[in-house]
Amino acid sequence: MSSDKSTTIVIFGATGDLTWRKLAPALYDNFRKGRLPEPLRIVGFARRPWDDEILREKLRDGVKQVSKGYNEEIWSRFAPMLHYVQGNLDTAADFVQLQSYLTDLEAGPADRLYYLATAPEYYGPVATHLGVAGMADQSNGQRNIVIEKPFGHDLASARALNQVVHTTWEERQIFRIDHYLGKETAQNILFLRFANSIFEPVWNRNYIENVQITVAETVDVEQRAGYYDNAGVLRDMFQNHLLQLFTLVTMEPPTPYNADTLRNEKVKVLSATRPIALEDTVRAQYEGYRSAQGVAPDSQTATYAALKLYVDNWRWQSVPFYLRSGKALAKKHSEVAVTFKRPPLSMFGLVNRRVSNVLSILIQPDEGIHLTFDAKVPDSSQEMRSVGLEFHYTDAFPDRTIPDAYERLLLDALNGDATLFARSDEIDYAWQLVNPVLDGWRAVGVPPVVSYVPGSWGPAEANMLLARHGHVWQIANGHQKG
Ligand code: BG6
Repeated sequence: MSSDKSTTIVIFGATGDLTWRKLAPALYDNFRKGRLPEPLRIVGFARRPWDDEILREKLRDGVKQVSKGYNEEIWSRFAPMLHYVQGNLDTAADFVQLQSYLTDLEAGPADRLYYLATAPEYYGPVATHLGVAGMADQSNGQRNIVIEKPFGHDLASARALNQVVHTTWEERQIFRIDHYLGKETAQNILFLRFANSIFEPVWNRNYIENVQITVAETVDVEQRAGYYDNAGVLRDMFQNHLLQLFTLVTMEPPTPYNADTLRNEKVKVLSATRPIALEDTVRAQYEGYRSAQGVAPDSQTATYAALKLYVDNWRWQSVPFYLRSGKALAKKHSEVAVTFKRPPLSMFGLVNRRVSNVLSILIQPDEGIHLTFDAKVPDSSQEMRSVGLEFHYTDAFPDRTIPDAYERLLLDALNGDATLFARSDEIDYAWQLVNPVLDGWRAVGVPPVVSYVPGSWGPAEANMLLARHGHVWQIANGHQKG
């Protein structure tokens, strides 16, 4: 894709794992699909004494392992775009040097995208240093900044960070990443709801009994205890990923469809969400977590949580939303399960039969949508059985592979499209929901941390949270067992 517009991406934290595992492969894949603007330069900035050649070799290794389309010839055209500048993230003078390096390299007007793939404590300082070095100035091209998660450690630090970043950057220049928004299946929630006419009429309290959002992982804390033991599952998964999925399911249609209206609707639904009662929360830790390297021996950090939420608006009044996520669980499985109400009249001996109309939006790994309903068993008088309609991406789009979320997000950020990025008020409202739970857990100690067996579906307390309303956790194709 060639144009007269020249573009530079600067990656801060270029020697880190995120660049190696996600950013470089996503950029390479976009390049081989012909989707990157040209001419393009990708400049890595970090402390290690690397040079262009070392960066290219290291990133090649990542691309080879991660990309499904590694090819020597394509790589040989991609690699020359990669450059390396050594510098300190907390040294203002290094940004001045970087600015003059970039100006020389660009030799003319260029749009720039600054990607902060650094440790979170550097987000504020880097945003500021860029401003001081004149690198946010837009007279020679657009200047946008991408900020990774976690955005803040709590409400106060998120607000402080927003304030620091806003000192230099206008909101429309800021792209806060939540990679769940880049997942095909998450984007498809809006298409399912608003590009079809059969779902929206029943998408409300009159027809829906409860909604469940599950993001289950099999991996444990791995080598990330330094970060994770400080964060825990609410900060790591709920404040961002689960609440983003929640807004996509609950929001009103954004019209006309654009980044602002979409994010306005997300903010509206978050602000209509009732503060979460501590008794509607479950916090748990998998057995053995405290013996992992780097975890405090008396750690109270939750590696699993389940929450019940209510949205106080006309569409959702009284409908429980159950959100759960955890590490070391039975299966890697992310799903939004929408359970519909029973028919108003019990015919065919339906009394006591569980509700079987469930629409399951399978986020990953087996991406698709399932709808279960009851059918009469042939050659019986009144026997009934749950059957299903299934859509699988692999069957419907056999010639397409589902791209990594970063591919879409990097492209959108390059194009200045903020639709799939979180706005400052969205982050604020999400923290307003999560922060009191964190405070309550710490200060009141309610509910206590319970343990669960690695490889299970979490603690029994999470089942009890639903059982109070006669509900059960769903997985695709029927009830979750155990
Ligand atoms: C990250 C969390 O944001 O998301 C990780 O920090 C988690 O702890 C990961 O494992 C899950 O992402 P995905 O795309 O594998 O579901």
